[in-house]
Amino acid sequence: MLSTRFAKVLRLFAITAVAAILAAACSTTKNESGGSGGSGGDKKIALLLPETKTTRYEAQDKPLFEAKVKAVCPDCQILYSNADQKGDVQQNQADAALTNGAKVLVLDPVDSASAAAIVAKAKAKGVPVIAYDRLILNADIDYYISFDNMQVGKLQAQALVDELKAKNKSGSIVMINGAPTDNNAKLFKQGAHSVIDTSGFKIGKEYDTPDWSPDKAQTEMEQAITALGKTGFVGVYAANDGTGGGAIAALKGQGISPLPPVTGQDAELAAVQRVLSGEQFMTVYKAIKPQAEAAAQWAVDLASGKKSDADALATTKVNNGTKDVPSIILTPVAVTKANAKETVGKMISDGFLKAADICTGAVSAVCSQLGLA
Ligand code: BGC
Repeated sequence: MLSTRFAKVLRLFAITAVAAILAAACSTTKNESGGSGGSGGDKKIALLLPETKTTRYEAQDKPLFEAKVKAVCPDCQILYSNADQKGDVQQNQADAALTNGAKVLVLDPVDSASAAAIVAKAKAKGVPVIAYDRLILNADIDYYISFDNMQVGKLQAQALVDELKAKNKSGSIVMINGAPTDNNAKLFKQGAHSVIDTSGFKIGKEYDTPDWSPDKAQTEMEQAITALGKTGFVGVYAANDGTGGGAIAALKGQGISPLPPVTGQDAELAAVQRVLSGEQFMTVYKAIKPQAEAAAQWAVDLASGKKSDADALATTKVNNGTKDVPSIILTPVAVTKANAKETVGKMISDGFLKAADICTGAVSAVCSQLGLA
C-alpha cells in the first residue's frame, strides 16, 4: 500500500518535472523575451525575417529590433523567426506566431505577393501587420517601413556608369538583379534601368537571381562570361553584396584581371572590406538602426493599444495596390573607396560596423590611410 502510494507520488513528480522541462524548452525556442520574460503574456510581437545568406537580418535587423523593444517595453515578448528564403516556411512561422498569441506581425516577406495570405489570416484575427523593408502588395497592411528602393537602384547604376565614363569605357554591362519574388528587387531593377538605359551602355546579359542566392549569382556571372567572352563587358551591376560577391568569385575564377567595377548593396562587412581593398566598386549603406527602431516602436504601440501614437510616427504614404499605407521611407547612401572616409566613417560612428572588424589584413593599411582606424 505504502509502496504504491510512493510510486504514485514518484510518477506524479516525474510527470511534473517533464512538463516543466518541456515548458522551459518551448519558451526558449519560441519566445525571445524583450525584457525580463515571464509576465509579457499578452504583449507578444512577432518578427518574421526572410533569409540568412544576407548578413543584415541576423547581424543588424534582429538585434536592433529586439534592443528597442526591450528598451521601450520591458514586458513585451518577441516571437522571432527567419524563413531561410522559403515562402512556405514563412507561412507556417506566421501561423505559429498567430497561434502563440502574437498581437502584431512585423513581416519582411520572402514572397511579397503570396504574403497577402499571411496578412489576411492576421487581419481575420484582428492582428495588425507592419511590412518590414519589403512592401506586401495588394493586402490590408497597417504600416510600411523601408528605404527609397528605387533610389537604391539609381545610386548603384549611376555610380557604375560614372565610373565607366571616367575610365573612358564603352560597351556592355551585365545585370544581376535580385529575387523576382521580392518587391524591392523590382524597384532596384527599375531604378537601375532608368539610369543604364539612357547612359549609352548596352545590357549584355541580364538575370533575376532566385532567392537572392550568391551561389546562383556566381553561376549567372559564369554564364555571362561564357556568352560574352572575358572582354565582352565592362561592368557588372549586382543588386546586393551577396550577389556582387558571387559575381566577383566568378570573375576571379575565370582569371579576369583587373576586375571590372561591380556594384552591391547593404554595406556587409565583407563587402566594405572589398570596397576598401578595391575588389568591389561600390555598395549602398542603409542604416538599419532607424528602420529597426521605428518598426519596433510601431509594434510596441500597436501591442499596447496606442494606435494614434503609431499613426503619428508615419511620415508618408505608399500605395500597395489596396490602400495608401502609412509609411516611413529612409535614405540610402552610395559608398565607394573615393568617399569611404565619410561613408565608412559614418558606419563606424553609427555603430553599424566596427573599425576593428573592417580594418584587418590587407585592409588595415587602407584604413590607416583614410584615418578610419
Ligand atoms: C533588401 C536588401 C537585401 C535583399 C536580400 C532586399 O529586400 O532590401 O537589403 O540585400 O533583400 O535579402
